[in-house]
This record gives sequence, C-alpha cells and structure tokens, in this order.
Amino acid sequence: MKEITLLTPDDWHLHFRSGDMLKETVPATARCFQRAIVMPNTVPPITNAKMALDYKRHILAARPEGSTFEPLMTLYLTNDTSSQDIIDAKASGVTAAKYYPAGATTNSDAACSDMLDLYPIFKVMEEQDFPLLIHGEVTDNEIDIFDREKVFIDRNLLPLVEKFPQLRIVLEHITTQDAVEFIADASDYLAATITPQHLMLNRNDLLVGGIQPHNYCLPVLKRNTHQQALRQAVASGSKKFFLGTDSAPHEKQHKESACGCAGCYSALNALELYTTVFEELDALEKLEGFASLYGPDFYKLPRNTSTITLIKQDWQIPKAIILPNGEPIVPFLAGKTVLWKIKE
Ligand code: DOR
Ligand code: ZN
Repeated sequence: MKEITLLTPDDWHLHFRSGDMLKETVPATARCFQRAIVMPNTVPPITNAKMALDYKRHILAARPEGSTFEPLMTLYLTNDTSSQDIIDAKASGVTAAKYYPAGATTNSDAACSDMLDLYPIFKVMEEQDFPLLIHGEVTDNEIDIFDREKVFIDRNLLPLVEKFPQLRIVLEHITTQDAVEFIADASDYLAATITPQHLMLNRNDLLVGGIQPHNYCLPVLKRNTHQQALRQAVASGSKKFFLGTDSAPHEKQHKESACGCAGCYSALNALELYTTVFEELDALEKLEGFASLYGPDFYKLPRNTSTITLIKQDWQIPKAIILPNGEPIVPFLAGKTVLWKIKE
C-alpha cells in the first residue's frame, strides 16, 4: 500500500505541560489529531473544574491559526478531591479523572497514597458515568519495577472492578501481556491505551549498548515477549485497545542527566510511527479502528468526520527541536527514518 486515509484520529492520553511549552506541544498534536485527553500532572496539578477550564483556555490559545483541535480535560485525583469536585467537573464539560499512585511518575507527589481512600469518589464517578483513567503501577519499594503493572492489576484493579462494575476505566499506557489479557477478558467498561514506544521497543532498547535516556518512560519498557503481546493486541482489531501516545516532553538537559526524567516526546511523529507498526504487523486495515474509532466510542463521543491521509514516504525525525524558551528537546526516535508521512 502506498497511501492510507483514515477518519482523523484522536490522542487519548498525552502531556501538554504548561506555559511556553504549549506553543510547541499543542501545534505538534493539532497537526494530526482532532482531540486529545490532556493529562493533569502539571505544576500545580489540575484538581478542580475551574483549573481545568483555565488550562483549557491556555491550550486553545496555543493552537495554530484556524485549528479546530479540541482538548479534552481531566482532573487529578488527590486526598482532597470531593464528590462535589466530580459533579462540578462533569457539569463543566471535563471529560475524565486521572488516578496516579503517589510517587509513580512525573509530578505525582500530590496523588493519593491509598486507592481505597478514593472509593467514595469512585462511587460518585460511577453514578455520574465519569471515566476513571489509571496509571496502573504499584509504587512499593519491595516490588520490582518490571512487576509493578501486574501487581497493580492483581492488588488494586481486580477489587476495584468488582466493587464498581459500571465505572468506565481506561488502563493507560499498558506495557505487559498481563494487562493485555486482563483488558481483553474484562467487561466493556474497561479499555486500554497503548503508546508507540511500547509497541516499537523493549527493555533492550533502554539498556543495551549504554543507557538510552530518550527511551526511558513510565511504565518502563518491558521484555520483548510483552512487546509482542501488545503488538498482537493492536493487530487483533479489538475495540478495547486504542491510541494514546503518552507524549511527555522533557528538556534535553533533564533527560540526559544523572537522574533523568521519564517520558518520550512523540507528538511530532506518533501517527506515522503507529502506521509503521501496523504495516509491519500486516494489519493496516486495523489502524483506523485503533486510531479513530474505538476511542470516541468508549468515551461516548462522536467519531470525527474529517479525514487524514498518510503516504509511504521516507523522512527523518529531527535530532532536536528548540523549545520556545530556547532549550532543546530530543523527540522520540530522533534522527531515525520513518516510512510514512502525513500528506500536507
Ligand atoms: O513516562 C512518563 N512520563 N510516564 C508518565 O506516566 C508521566 C509522563 C510525564 O508526565 O512526564
Ligand atoms: Zn502519561
């Protein structure tokens, strides 16, 4: 195939950050995605409807001229989240709420340390049909980092799903065969997003031949058998798996550091990378479901009506981009050749 046309896709999980950074991140995503679920782990985190609407205004102001891109806002659940916060958020058009285990990832210090404390909030979310987005990892020091997703599923997610069977849950950026199997066997109230890095890479790409800080993200890359399970999941065409890049920019100096930040900045090239993966899997006909249909269906939002076309054409991902503050950022797979390109 030389060309493929899809209904315009959406990104169901990304990090835009705030301030000047929006002038880079928002246009990069608006180039090919019509909507995006915007993560609330800013500094300070987005914890109520007013903050979400304020943040949304800044994102809208950073769109390129004429863009109709729409950010879908989320709340960050903390120990202080009240039932009223959820009711107000729903009434204000906020789309979902995000659960981070405390200490799981970038700016998660404000998160709730025990998920059980949030059960009264989950009850309200279930009643309000307000989706819960989960970073599914335990953070106990005695649990090996490569096992954190599986232990979270067994310890936290199974009881949660049992208690709130009609709460819509997205297990974000899944990384293991265990998560694939759990989601595939779960009710239609559960779904998962999958990133380009977890489809394209495994932990060898992080650790062999020297540490590769630009491939470091959380949940961390797993062994290749898990990568294969994720690839099979998307190739299966199951409506339970859909696109979420987890694009998460950090300045070059904060990635190439003695204590480097987690996150891959993939907004620039994510759609082309997903297309490459589906072609490798001989499953290009399944790409539109993953990228453009199953996400809006799960979120009960209309599917997009416009289209986007990709052509088979080599291009090189830039080695660095200069952010509006003058600092460089290294995009995901910088310097590598991509085989597909969006037709401008
Ligand atoms: O790699 C990641 N980066 N994983 C996350 O969960 C958060 C993100 C970030 O905000 O940098
Ligand atoms: Zn994320």
